[in-house]
Amino acid sequence: MTPQLAPTRTGILFVCLGNICRSPLAEGVFLGEVVRRGLGDRFVVDSCGTAAYHVGEAPDPRSCQVAAQYGLDITHQRARQLASADFARFDWIVAMDRANARAIEQARPNGARARVARFMDFVPDSTSQDVPDPYYGGPEGFERVYDLLRRGADRLLDAVLAERAQEAG
Ligand code: 4NP
Repeated sequence: MTPQLAPTRTGILFVCLGNICRSPLAEGVFLGEVVRRGLGDRFVVDSCGTAAYHVGEAPDPRSCQVAAQYGLDITHQRARQLASADFARFDWIVAMDRANARAIEQARPNGARARVARFMDFVPDSTSQDVPDPYYGGPEGFERVYDLLRRGADRLLDAVLAERAQEAG
């Protein structure tokens, strides 16, 4: 029997500051979209924070609640900090805001190939360049974050797939 080559998985890493509010929700929403399109075996999706404040913690209950409201369970996730190895493990590192993008670039090891993108560049008609940090606000901030993630996830996935197709020739 001819052994079946495993399809190459594309790695997507979502990054915010604490990895308890925005990026865990981004991971859940994006993975939901990947699975909905039947592409679960083609992707590795993860999230982390640029800071270490909440390492080991579950996502903020307000993020878990908004996820659950839309049929997503993100309660199993645990916060971790961005590491040098992420620049080799992931093809795309997607920042929630401009400060995250700067911190990611500062942490980039010399010669690392991962592509750093800003999530808001994939949200149609967006007026802001940042997914706003909801940590110090009320639940409506988490709804707003979910809405932006929902609106950008499709286009981000399209862009990743287009790049994969181009690389494959
Ligand atoms: P996140 O939100 O970056 O979306 O996870 C925050 C979480 C924690 C803090 C700030 C933002 N903090 O200062 O502890």
